[in-house]
Amino acid sequence: MTHRSRTAVVLAFLVIVTVALGACSGGTDGPSLVQSRCDTCHSVDWVTSASSSARADWEGTVARMEVKGLQVTDEERATIIDHLNATYPPE
Ligand code: HEC
Repeated sequence: MTHRSRTAVVLAFLVIVTVALGACSGGTDGPSLVQSRCDTCHSVDWVTSASSSARADWEGTVARMEVKGLQVTDEERATIIDHLNATYPPE
């Protein structure tokens, strides 16, 4: 193996490890947050099958879930609401 191809192998390995670690930590994008935070009390189906709502309704829903015990940071709440609003907009 030449020195150069060994460097390429090491780099490829580092990329794979980085991607794998990112996946394990749960992710901080909208879909991952809904999966990890909204699935703790009820199935995510409750969220995905909920009728489409206006942004204010999603804000209200998430606020109600927080009263029930949902724990999210301000940043996570914003990401979740953005995702729900974009994925299930009002009809
Ligand atoms: C601490 C527990 C808990 C967590 C976490 C939680 N929920 Fe809920 N959720 C409930 C309960 C209990 C209900 C049952 C209906 C009710 O009491 O309103 C419910 C019902 C719902 C419903 C169905 C109808 C409605 O509007 O009440 C939707 C939609 C919903 N949740 C969305 C979410 C979303 C989105 C998240 C994540 C951001 C989430 N939930 C996280 C407890 C929770």
